Amino acid sequence: MKTKIFCDIADFKTIKFFNKKSIVDGFTTNPSLMRLAGAKNYKDYSLKILKVCKKKPISFEVFADEPKEMLKQAYKINTWGKNVYVKIPVVNSKGLFMGSVIKELSDKGIKLNITAVYTYEQTTKIYKSLNKKTKSIISIFAGRMADKGKDPLPIFKKSISLTKKNKNIEILWASTREAYNYIQAKQLKCNIITMPPKVINQISSFGKSFKSMTVDTVKGFLTDSKKSKFRL
Ligand code: E4P
Repeated sequence: MKTKIFCDIADFKTIKFFNKKSIVDGFTTNPSLMRLAGAKNYKDYSLKILKVCKKKPISFEVFADEPKEMLKQAYKINTWGKNVYVKIPVVNSKGLFMGSVIKELSDKGIKLNITAVYTYEQTTKIYKSLNKKTKSIISIFAGRMADKGKDPLPIFKKSISLTKKNKNIEILWASTREAYNYIQAKQLKCNIITMPPKVINQISSFGKSFKSMTVDTVKGFLTDSKKSKFRL
């Protein structure tokens, strides 16, 4: 089983670049990444991306906070392309589970990426709300968990074992912090990992020996010492 690599980015040029690379199987965006990319008009910017990314799956998130408004946005986003996954946060900013939104959209066959997931309890609730005939992704935020001193592995293990029988429902390792997360995701048989471009580039140079790593490290220190003309 392959762990697919998605690129976590909204920058147009980077998406255009990685869309041509076979290492990248798809893309994930979120409103913060869209802001960082300088998007002014959410729809126009997304459509510009979709002109270059026509086949690989790409997620665009709703940014409404009320279920009704979220549904309206989801229906619109869904019309933008066949490769589009509509990203729905598991809860809104008040902490309310968006189960009714997830169920309605999933029952209509709309591909969803349920995001901002941190607990196994959330995974089970999402799983119950999803239509098992519709393709869906559940995004678990490993890095943000680890940043707060929490171990992300147990929730992944349990979530993967819950969804593994269903081919349409994929678990995504989100919020990647380092290249080693790819090894962890692969060991867990996680369906997808999304990572920033920098980490994708690190993965491309996997396989370096310990011997060359140690020599390169020492070389780096030596070069910097010379550049700074250190004397004792
Ligand atoms: C996933 O789809 C999210 O966009 C992303 O992985 C969040 O990562 P961050 O914690 O680095 O913002």
